[in-house]
Amino acid sequence: MKKAYNFNAGPCVLPKVAIDAAIEALKDFMGTGMSVIEVSHRSKEWGVVMDECRALWRELLHIPEDYEVLFMAGGASTQFLCVPMNLLEKKAAYLETGVWAKKACKEASALGETVVVASSADKTFSYIPKGWTIPADVDYFHITTNNTIYGTEIREDFDSPVPLIADMSSDIMSRPVDVSKYGIIYGGAQKNVGPAGVAFAIVRKDILGKVSRHIPTMLNYQTHIDGGSMFNTPPVFSIFVMNETLKWLKGLGGVEAINKINVKKAGMLYDEIDRNSMFIGTAAKEDRSIMNVCFVMAPGKEALQDEFLEFAKARGMVGIKGHRSVGGFRASLYNACPVEAVEALIACMQEFEQLHK
Ligand SMILES: Cc1ncc(COP(=O)(O)O)c(C=O)c1O
Repeated sequence: MKKAYNFNAGPCVLPKVAIDAAIEALKDFMGTGMSVIEVSHRSKEWGVVMDECRALWRELLHIPEDYEVLFMAGGASTQFLCVPMNLLEKKAAYLETGVWAKKACKEASALGETVVVASSADKTFSYIPKGWTIPADVDYFHITTNNTIYGTEIREDFDSPVPLIADMSSDIMSRPVDVSKYGIIYGGAQKNVGPAGVAFAIVRKDILGKVSRHIPTMLNYQTHIDGGSMFNTPPVFSIFVMNETLKWLKGLGGVEAINKINVKKAGMLYDEIDRNSMFIGTAAKEDRSIMNVCFVMAPGKEALQDEFLEFAKARGMVGIKGHRSVGGFRASLYNACPVEAVEALIACMQEFEQLHK
């Protein structure tokens, strides 16, 4: 099989063992003589996968008892709406760190008053705003911990006077998190925890049931708590692969162990960007993401952008083109991206520099 160094931003590289297990389960799921996409989601065998997956989430993130782990369809974008539907009575506060944060806020604005506590829109979201405070008179405060498009990341678990809600789509399970500081942590699975098709929501149960509106059944977290994430047919295949991905992560030593590898991978690439005369990083150094590394051609070298993309492509690099809204380059170094891929990209950047000396 052709070897690709996959730096896609999501869907993205997944552990090979998870994909191999999925291939086997597509042929025969747990000796049932049926494919995993043919069995009943009410079967005993499927129940084993659901229970195991939930237990792995709890174990890997040390999730306290008073939280529920939910698997829902509709991606993180549906969670943008679920959060205000379930929590917004009068007013909510948002930290605007990118277009995903803006989209989340827009959904809330249709249901109540929203305040943007701070924004980094003035510099194309290339930094995390500082010096703001969380208002005490809001129903919740929403942050996007990792800004996939711009390569900035919040790694602090803030103390908050109101429920802290975090979109962790692109850094969940990449680093330890103090779950007890959050009201809800949610995201799409398709970066660190599985394929597209399933979203996760870690919900502190006592913050629910406080709004006066009617919440549509499928958007109501309580529906999914009561139904064990099986009120309706869950996205079985995506959850199966998620479970296998989490088993792989546990085998590696869990979130604490993968974090060390992630810090090392990102550090290697940022060091090369800072050293290499052809490139410069775009995110503020203190806010650099360990998941999405964004960079552009150095001043005066901009005309070489397409040439570098072709050069890298010829050496097996996939997915390093920056998001269409910002351009440049982005290498996504999610959990399953091996150190060798980062080394290959660095070698490619060095070769390109030599060529243009
Ligand atoms: C931080 C963040 N939030 C939300 C989304 C949207 O996720 P979905 O496509 O699952 O709706 C993305 C997608 O890349 C993202 O990176």
